[in-house]
Amino acid sequence: MNSVAWKAYAKINLGLTVLGRRPDGYHELRTVYQSIGLADHLEVTLQAGPRRVHLETSGLAVPEGSQNLAVRAAEAMLEELHLRAHVSVVLHKRIPLGSGLGGGSSDAATVLRAISNLSKQMVTAERLLRMAAELGSDVPFFLYGGRALGLGRGEEVYPLPEEQRRCCVLFFPGRGMDTVEAYRRLRRPRLTPLAASPTIELFSSRVNEARGNRWSGPGHHGLENDFEPLVFREFPGLARVKETLRQAGAEVATLSGSGSAVFGLFQNYSTARRAAQQLRGQSGRVVLTRTISRREFQAQSVRPKAAR
Ligand code: C5P
Repeated sequence: MNSVAWKAYAKINLGLTVLGRRPDGYHELRTVYQSIGLADHLEVTLQAGPRRVHLETSGLAVPEGSQNLAVRAAEAMLEELHLRAHVSVVLHKRIPLGSGLGGGSSDAATVLRAISNLSKQMVTAERLLRMAAELGSDVPFFLYGGRALGLGRGEEVYPLPEEQRRCCVLFFPGRGMDTVEAYRRLRRPRLTPLAASPTIELFSSRVNEARGNRWSGPGHHGLENDFEPLVFREFPGLARVKETLRQAGAEVATLSGSGSAVFGLFQNYSTARRAAQQLRGQSGRVVLTRTISRREFQAQSVRPKAAR
């Protein structure tokens, strides 16, 4: 029996532009993903035996069986590698569901990486990326972590240079936003018109250049999230949360993914902590965390748990 105990880090989106609906029904996106310290904890064990996937959970409630993306990832991996093996996934859930922080996708990518690592089979990056993209649009990002440009339906990821570490204050209003519903309601005219859409180069350079005070200017240099108007209507308290984060000195404060979590990034810890304290009065969950670099994200993959 061999196993690994890994963190599945959450992400935030530094800007999210939805360009339009594609023939395959998905929406064309421009976004920048950034890993953060809030994480689920996963212990994945691979054992010889009949092909079976077992999920045990603690913490926040999650979907069971094949409804759970981590289980689907394990099943897909066993199939892909033609493994006759028993996979046990012990998941301690901390990333809220429906928050736009990518918890389910991160769990799935972590399971793919874990089984690939434990099976000792050579699985090419291309194969892993294909499997990840089949599981969900933002699963490929969680194979890399750090900061990356996301294009296509979000599954095309291009690692970006790392930025200095930032403190991150998250606010989750206690109720999630359904992703399918969010995209459904984002029909025209709310979609960013193609003529006004930033080109890929412009979009990524805006994010790369968005440092220090340049983030606090009006309009946040393109770091808006197209889901904000509709999600803020659904959760009226969120606009105030965003304003509180800005007033407290956030370089950028915006919705993550299709919501419902809002985050603020801060250069220094004491300002971030003060902002978090100011939000504690609002009804919801406040988390004080920080950005995670690609190197930190990947460091855990080389430390397998001792074989038992
Ligand atoms: O890819 P994923 O399974 O995470 O997507 C969930 C749903 O979100 C899709 O079925 C689709 O309705 C919507 N979606 C979309 N465009 C994207 C990503 C997701 O319309 N780029």
